[in-house]
Amino acid sequence: MTASPRPPGRPPERPPRRARLRDLPPLPEPAAQPVAGHLGRWGREPLALLREGATLGDPFLLRLWRPAVVGASPAWNRLVLGDLDTFRSRGSLSALSPYLNGGVVMTDPPDHAPRRAELNPTFHAKALEALRADLEAVVADRVPTGRFDALDWSLDTVPAMLNRAFFADRYPERELHAFFAPLHRPLPGPLLPRPLAFRRVHARLAALVADPPEGSLIAHLAGLENVVEEVRVSLAAAFDTTAHTLAWALWYLAEQEGELDAPRIRRLIQETQRLYPAGWLGSRVASRPFTFEDRTFPAGLLIFYSPYLTHRRADLWPEPERFVPDRFDAKPPPWGYVPFSAGARICLGMHLAKLMMEVALTPFADGGTRIVEGDPEPRTGLTLSPRGPLTLLRP
Ligand code: HEM
Repeated sequence: MTASPRPPGRPPERPPRRARLRDLPPLPEPAAQPVAGHLGRWGREPLALLREGATLGDPFLLRLWRPAVVGASPAWNRLVLGDLDTFRSRGSLSALSPYLNGGVVMTDPPDHAPRRAELNPTFHAKALEALRADLEAVVADRVPTGRFDALDWSLDTVPAMLNRAFFADRYPERELHAFFAPLHRPLPGPLLPRPLAFRRVHARLAALVADPPEGSLIAHLAGLENVVEEVRVSLAAAFDTTAHTLAWALWYLAEQEGELDAPRIRRLIQETQRLYPAGWLGSRVASRPFTFEDRTFPAGLLIFYSPYLTHRRADLWPEPERFVPDRFDAKPPPWGYVPFSAGARICLGMHLAKLMMEVALTPFADGGTRIVEGDPEPRTGLTLSPRGPLTLLRP
């Protein structure tokens, strides 16, 4: 029997062997331990490790459980995010979490583009406008007075908005919270297998798909193949990302002087996502060797791009550590602002996330919300989160 030839330009279906350290070109790297490499610091203080690496060179090497190369320049982002065929999701870190290991997140070319073409219309900005009034009603019922914790409030309000948008409130609230809760926990919480809980979620979603409430997102998606897994993955990708960003945005909103109109709210969200991109680190696996700035890298290499590092590059963002929403009066640098990633794999729910955050922030933008006390420093997990609590006062 002879093997059938592969279509030209298509990589082999089987992922390439993992790249070894000796296959890599010389690269700068943070100080490492003899055997454990950078694994210890990766577990304890990944942001400090990334920031140290970025001072040494771009890209730089990390010795984790396997060698990984991290880049943060616009040119690196353009390369890694612009070529889905070479830089694949299968085998990346998303596969380590049962929450993200499936659906479009794990779909690579040639199936990725047709899958996105089916999903995109439901999440288009114009299509989502139909949900605005519903989402405003969800928030209006929950606006607190007196002291409240912006992190707790966001962790409660985002599921309520997702329930309204996806299911017209037909998903039992406690069940939805039970599904989401591990995503907000420190690692390894979001990585642990939960076969029973997931079976229950799949059964619930299958029932909703079979009889979808009119006008809901699940009604739009109901005819698609693999829709249950697709919705489960989208919910997981939607929850902690949006809730954590919203909590930070509320904290910074409370620091602003005076009333904020809609454009100022949008700039505040943009600046929040610059300093604290919930998706702080994205990963891919190279399906074939590639060249970047005169260095050749092997197939099977674990690749990172880091919105967190890109957004703190002083050559792209003057005084990068300062919170200055007005910097978004100007267009962000191409491939230098990637809170929702970029290219063909850009976040499916970007417009939904923006809509939910705008709607949720608007009632607080009358100039009356103030900071009481809190800890907004980032904590790393599957996504970046404020440590909290973030105690605010709304008279
Ligand atoms: C502030 C909130 C959000 C942030 C910061 C965020 C960020 C991201 C990022 C960085 C990626 C690219 C990951 C990668 O491949 O490297 C992504 C992908 C994705 N996001 Fe979001 N996201 C948010 C909200 C949402 C929402 C509300 C949904 C609901 C539909 C969603 C669904 C997805 C899906 C399905 C993908 C995979 C797309 C693909 O691989 O083609 N996200 N998101």
